[in-house]
Amino acid sequence: MSNKFPKNFLWGASTSAYQFEGGWDSDGKGPLIQDVRKNIPNGTTDFKVDSDHYNNWKEDIALMAEMGFKSYRFSISWTRILPKGFGKINKDGINFYNNIINELLKYNIIPIVTMYHFDLPNELEKNGGWLNRETIDHFANYAKILFENFGDRVKYWLTINEQNVMIIFGEIVGVKFGEGKERLKNTYQVNHHMMLAQAKAMDICHQTVKNGKIGSAPNIAAIYPNTNKPEDQIAALNMKIFRNWFYLDCYIFGIYNKFVLNYLEKHNSMFEIYKEDLEILKKSKPDFIAFNYYASGTAEMSYENDNFKTLTDQQKVRSIKGVYRQVYNPNLQKTQFGWEIDPIGLKTTLREIYDRYRLPLIITENGIGGYDELIDDKVNDDYRIDYYQKHIEQLKLAINDGVELIGYNPWSAIYLVSTHEGIKKRYGFVFVNRTDDDLKDLKRYRKKSFYWYQKVIENNGL
Ligand code: BG6
Repeated sequence: MSNKFPKNFLWGASTSAYQFEGGWDSDGKGPLIQDVRKNIPNGTTDFKVDSDHYNNWKEDIALMAEMGFKSYRFSISWTRILPKGFGKINKDGINFYNNIINELLKYNIIPIVTMYHFDLPNELEKNGGWLNRETIDHFANYAKILFENFGDRVKYWLTINEQNVMIIFGEIVGVKFGEGKERLKNTYQVNHHMMLAQAKAMDICHQTVKNGKIGSAPNIAAIYPNTNKPEDQIAALNMKIFRNWFYLDCYIFGIYNKFVLNYLEKHNSMFEIYKEDLEILKKSKPDFIAFNYYASGTAEMSYENDNFKTLTDQQKVRSIKGVYRQVYNPNLQKTQFGWEIDPIGLKTTLREIYDRYRLPLIITENGIGGYDELIDDKVNDDYRIDYYQKHIEQLKLAINDGVELIGYNPWSAIYLVSTHEGIKKRYGFVFVNRTDDDLKDLKRYRKKSFYWYQKVIENNGL
């Protein structure tokens, strides 16, 4: 068994278009749901300028090359390619991504491209969004355009980022399910349409991209029972199914987990499945499993009469009455933004996924957001180095245990706008000089972690 990272291990990092690019209406790009989103929390910025990667892509890729990246995971903005989500192709959008891909390849950085990262075209949203079955074929058509235009150079594809997060916390990331008694059914109807869309895209990829590899990128986490009470063990099992396996089972085996379907039936909320749908799901096969990991979860039992009284608002959203309630783990430290930190949980997650599916794994997000400060042109982010060091140690242990891990692309390569906590919550190895309300000069500064990660990559993780 190897005690080392494989020779061609994909060391790199990630970003997403709507959080990093800016240029929200430049050169023919159409509006995305994120561009028109109204629920931006007070005191945080919107996603119109971001880090202005749109105008700084050359310098940004040079910084990634300087860190020694072997891969870079980024997403393509659907409406830069198809301003309405369908119809006429925007040549400028194709050119923009051609430039990015060619620049990466110039430095021997392998592009890993996400097709969809929380960013539905607004025109499709107006037509019912993911609840409308037509969106499935719009996505498949968009995927085909990407493969035809970039598939000669892009061999690693990711369909949908964090589908499970969109289903669990839809509204935060701009997905709508409506209100009232149809809400639960609609939520899983949206999920079903996303499943079909990504299954079709996988199939098209295998037909059109020579040596192309494709997978989805859900957010997967190890789940602990809160105590050794047998019922908490059941709660943890329930949470694993609702949060993790329901999605991965469908991507990989083309089947829906019965426990979730029974729950929906019991609540008169079973979604509609057409006769041909199950065939479509069964037919598509991913080549690897990509997943994002931030922290583990902890579950305790919930009963039908549970009023969630002792839970925080966030925990309430993450819990299901009568199934499980998510609670904090007192054994774990927290980030400055209250997220739990659990490096060993990453190893457990890797082991569990690999045991269950036996496909190569790639980590497409993992990281820590905090208050970075620029002092004398320097950013001392020791806390980030500590976080990554501990997580990378666990990767090595998991590989040593036999897990086939092919890459690590943490969040994020360069500073970008957090999904729901604005610019003050800083990610990345490179600082971008702006605040939530002041764009300043958007100048890039290498953080202390930049030089540290450069060494990690140089020494292949040792
Ligand atoms: C993941 C998303 O859920 O978490 C990213 O794929 C996101 O888009 C990241 O930025 C971190 O979350 P946040 O809310 O701190 O930005």
